[in-house]
Amino acid sequence: MDASFWHNRWQTNQTGWHEPAVNPLLITHFSSLNVPPGGRVFVPLCGKSLDLGWLLSRGYAVAGAGLSDLAVTQLCAQLGIEPSISTVGKLRLFRGEKIDIFVGDIFDLSHEILGPVDAIYDRAALVALPKAMRVQYTAHLKALTALTPQLVISYGYDQTIVAGPPFSVTSDELHHHYSDSYALTLLARVDVPGGLKGKCPAMEHIWRLDKRLN
Ligand SMILES: C[S@@+](CC[C@H](N)C(=O)[O-])C[C@H]1O[C@@H](n2cnc3c(N)ncnc32)[C@H](O)[C@@H]1O
Repeated sequence: MDASFWHNRWQTNQTGWHEPAVNPLLITHFSSLNVPPGGRVFVPLCGKSLDLGWLLSRGYAVAGAGLSDLAVTQLCAQLGIEPSISTVGKLRLFRGEKIDIFVGDIFDLSHEILGPVDAIYDRAALVALPKAMRVQYTAHLKALTALTPQLVISYGYDQTIVAGPPFSVTSDELHHHYSDSYALTLLARVDVPGGLKGKCPAMEHIWRLDKRLN
């Protein structure tokens, strides 16, 4: 799943992961992260998710990261933002009121460029990446954010029936990536209506990750 795969998906409008409404699990479970009022939420691999608008509407600041110019252009239009655009390192920064979107490869984003964040919201980010990249991604996310709390939405299904993305990420795998630094709490598991792409039953899981104190 290299950059050209994703650029092609945006250019050909094959964005089946994009939800037409704010994710209900975000609405139900965001408060459990205890983000301070006005806090800054990092949304890795953000696409043009409506979830960013919901976070802004609740008074939070948002920092997103995504590969695609098309996605960020559509996102800004959707939010009614005319962004200022600048270059930071290898990335471009689209900035509006209370929102920063870093466009380019997330692996080119650093802690210094991102700045402080109070929480991470990962929906369809970890599960978008093949296994070897998930190892790199989770390590990078920890370094980027100083282990700020996360909500992670993942899928569980039979990977032998459907090839990802989205990939199936088991509880064991999530613990393998994160339990050295975070305590993991499963907040909910819900059936994916119609299963994964209509091909096999699937569950959607939402986890809260809190930095370990020792
Ligand atoms: C499955 S989509 C999820 C988008 C969004 N989180 C949502 O819920 O709608 C994955 C997104 O990650 C972006 N992406 C993939 N690899 C990336 C990378 N290395 N750096 C930044 N963004 C990336 C893709 O362009 C795509 O928009």
